[in-house]
Amino acid sequence: MAPYKIVMVRHGESEWNEKNLFCGWFDANLSEKGKQEAQAAGKALKDAGYKFDMAFTSMLTRAQVTLQAILKEIGQEDLPTIRTWRLNERHYGGLTGLNKAETAAKYGEEQVNIWRRSFDIPPPPMEADHAYYDSIVKDARYAEGPTLDQFPMYESLKLTIERTLPFWNDSIVPQIKAGKQIMIAAHGNSLRGIVKHLDDLSEDQIMKLNLPTGIPFVYTLDENLKPVKSLEFLGDPETVKKAMEAVAAQGKAK
Ligand code: 3PG
Repeated sequence: MAPYKIVMVRHGESEWNEKNLFCGWFDANLSEKGKQEAQAAGKALKDAGYKFDMAFTSMLTRAQVTLQAILKEIGQEDLPTIRTWRLNERHYGGLTGLNKAETAAKYGEEQVNIWRRSFDIPPPPMEADHAYYDSIVKDARYAEGPTLDQFPMYESLKLTIERTLPFWNDSIVPQIKAGKQIMIAAHGNSLRGIVKHLDDLSEDQIMKLNLPTGIPFVYTLDENLKPVKSLEFLGDPETVKKAMEAVAAQGKAK
């Protein structure tokens, strides 16, 4: 029965976020700060009285560990959870592993912002001789998908949305409409794609959105899954604002 509430959260700070490296499909762990952020996210959801019927997350450790920390805090460690590559972070292609500030110094802050935040301009592809190619492409966790022809070597936000949206429509929406209280623990750009879809944001509008790590946000949706309330963060506005600005600043040349 509408209105529906859906909780989403970007993973806590990863070790590569801490080092300011383009991460994408590399499977970085949470930093110590990220583990604390995940725990704080769980506490915030517990204090707000949230209980869930199911969760969705990506194939990447940083999102899965964030989800587990949250579920432990709210006493739902055995919550049914679906993991899918379709919620993975956008694939940063040949930029994977590069320092964002150094890349901005080399190619310019504008170019890095285009690679990070534009809608349909992808980063350069990850070539077969890339340092992280084998560890990503040959990872056994992808045995069930994506298929070889679906496996990304780079993704713009547009390409990310093209593989996230089918999962949203086919797997998440039916659960929402069935009245299930769900949570999605995913990544900055796979969540930006869902936000763009829900709020029907323009390419310019989505370019300006930076999602903070580890601060849950809530969408309230009507019977047509149109937002009644968007991006309600479970954190004080000043903290959220500063966290968003910090994400944006990762692309500044030092
Ligand atoms: C990464 O993949 O590097 C981050 O998790 C997201 O990076 P971005 O904020 O630069 O898109």
